[in-house]
Amino acid sequence: MNRRKVAIIGSNGRLGRSLQEVCQPDHDLVGLTRYDLDLAWSDRAIREALDKFATDADVVLLSAGHTNVDVCEADPAEAEQLNVTSVRSIAQWCAEREIRFINFSSDYVFDGEKDTPYTEDDPVRPLSVYGQSKVDGEEVTVGASERNLVVRLTWLYGPGKPLATPDWAVRMAVENDHLNVVSDRIGSPSYTGDMAEALLPLMFDDSASGILHLCNAGSCSWQEWAQFCVDCAIGCGVEVKTREVGPLTMDDLFGDRATRPRYTVLSTAKYEAMTGRALPDWRVPLRHYVEAHVAPRFLRI
Ligand SMILES: NC(=O)c1ccc[n+]([C@@H]2O[C@H](COP(=O)([O-])OP(=O)(O)OC[C@H]3O[C@@H](n4cnc5c(N)ncnc54)[C@H](OP(=O)(O)O)[C@@H]3O)[C@@H](O)[C@H]2O)c1
Repeated sequence: MNRRKVAIIGSNGRLGRSLQEVCQPDHDLVGLTRYDLDLAWSDRAIREALDKFATDADVVLLSAGHTNVDVCEADPAEAEQLNVTSVRSIAQWCAEREIRFINFSSDYVFDGEKDTPYTEDDPVRPLSVYGQSKVDGEEVTVGASERNLVVRLTWLYGPGKPLATPDWAVRMAVENDHLNVVSDRIGSPSYTGDMAEALLPLMFDDSASGILHLCNAGSCSWQEWAQFCVDCAIGCGVEVKTREVGPLTMDDLFGDRATRPRYTVLSTAKYEAMTGRALPDWRVPLRHYVEAHVAPRFLRI
């Protein structure tokens, strides 16, 4: 197979690590951390970093970004720099060299008022600074070249950054007598490994351009997500203080923090039509993830 070169900006992140893992066997890879390319840098400094690391890349993937929703809300200028201005620099640098550029966006571009899965054609209406910065980042990505792709993702978890819901829920159940998790928020827990695998067949395909939704199949509330994680951990022999995860409302949890959309299930019909593939139900990778990555940390030897 002709080995092609993939440059991943944000290779230390949750998604970045999974992208590296799936690309490694068949492609030449360069992973850029924030020390190689900081999204806070000027246009010139970003271009110099790309000149150094990515000139011969066939595709540049941007999995780095400002992902803390509440910090973005408090500092819109920083959100703009990291999720829009720097993205414009990268997108333009790639366009000038006819290099395909793939950026990742978020379910937070939607207002969550629907109750059926969002398609790529649904209008965006972000409720937060973070969501708006992702919309603007999408526009500078697809606006720079017809070959560019924006992949919208949702409710990500994966190895490497144990701060996501599965790791948190199991730790809370082990350490606390009560655990309440938001029950009026609906989405699709999505495994970074599945997202990276799903992207692979489209990675070098310039006709796969514009906006694309990817997530694991099915949906649940955040409470159901946490309960499933706790059940899997119990099944592995983890001793917990809380077996039943109770409900909480979004208003209880987020109060005056950045507004989150209530319903953000993404339709993957477009992806399925393009590739003939379907993504697995959310429970399948989640069970495996808890068994392999979460439960072992809580098992008494
Ligand atoms: N997490 C989710 O639930 C979710 C949902 C929908 C969409 N997304 C989108 O998916 C993409 C990947 O998310 P993720 O969960 O993998 O994020 P993540 O784990 O938070 O990783 C973000 C990456 O961005 C890097 N980064 C942050 N500030 C930077 C800067 N100034 N310069 C260079 N790098 C910087 C971080 O570097 P360090 O490791 O050095 O901090 C990290 O590698 C993002 O575009 C995000 O908006 C995520």
